[in-house]
Amino acid sequence: MNRDELKAKLDYYKALGYKVPQMKYIKTEEQIAGIREAGRINSLVLDYVSERIREGISTQDIDDWVAECTARHNAICAPLNYEGYPKHVCVSVNDVVCHGIPSKRKILKAGDIVNVDCTTIYNGYYGDASRMFVIGETSPENERLIRVTKQCLELGLEAVKPWGFLGDVGYAIEQHASRNGFKVVRDYGGHGVGIEFHEDPFVFHYGKKGTGCLIVPGMTFTIEPMINMKKSGVRISALDGWTAYTKDGLPSAQWEYTIAVFEDHNEILSK
Ligand code: MF3
Ligand code: CO
Ligand code: CO
Repeated sequence: MNRDELKAKLDYYKALGYKVPQMKYIKTEEQIAGIREAGRINSLVLDYVSERIREGISTQDIDDWVAECTARHNAICAPLNYEGYPKHVCVSVNDVVCHGIPSKRKILKAGDIVNVDCTTIYNGYYGDASRMFVIGETSPENERLIRVTKQCLELGLEAVKPWGFLGDVGYAIEQHASRNGFKVVRDYGGHGVGIEFHEDPFVFHYGKKGTGCLIVPGMTFTIEPMINMKKSGVRISALDGWTAYTKDGLPSAQWEYTIAVFEDHNEILSK
């Protein structure tokens, strides 16, 4: 199918009442190659963090590593100055759900669970991914939260089928979280990514099968479930306007991939 035929097909679905992605967010082969490269560097930056993260370092140290490693690859940290965000990376510890701001005063200690979320711009293209790290040893419950959250992401990815629906993805994620007694955060979601940081569509981590945006080959988006131990509620720090905490003070975990959809398979562009 060429782009004109694809556009006609999407117009047809739209007329039938389906939610469809805008053509500008259906990437060309060339664009996907660019996003793949940005995603590859983004993963290298996360590798660099994973080799260094340990008890006793500050979350500012992680910010320094991300800035340094990204610059070494001639790339740019997308978070810096994004809507006023003050640092190069998000580092979210324990009850921080997402958007934790690195600080010299925040020292990692044994038992902490830490999400590091990197977004890299290379040659104008974006890759976005996050991983969980355990400092020393943590509780079995924290370990299980981290494991189940990763499984939620993998199951969400398996539910991505061309000409399926994003609701299938959210459904798979929510089912697995709730089966395990955990709660999906509803205030944040995945997103189209690649030529901008946050593109349409919004990728819900809960939903009903057969609903939501149509999944179309050429789409690139993130899946990035945030899963809370007991309650889904989130509150944003009044002090910095960014840091999202669980309302109940219990831990939260998150993993994120950037993926591309093709006619016959999905590809992970950054993990
Ligand atoms: N990387 C985050 C995401 O996955 C967004 C962070 S926005 C920032 O979408 F400004 F906090 F960096
Ligand atoms: Co993202
Ligand atoms: Co991210």
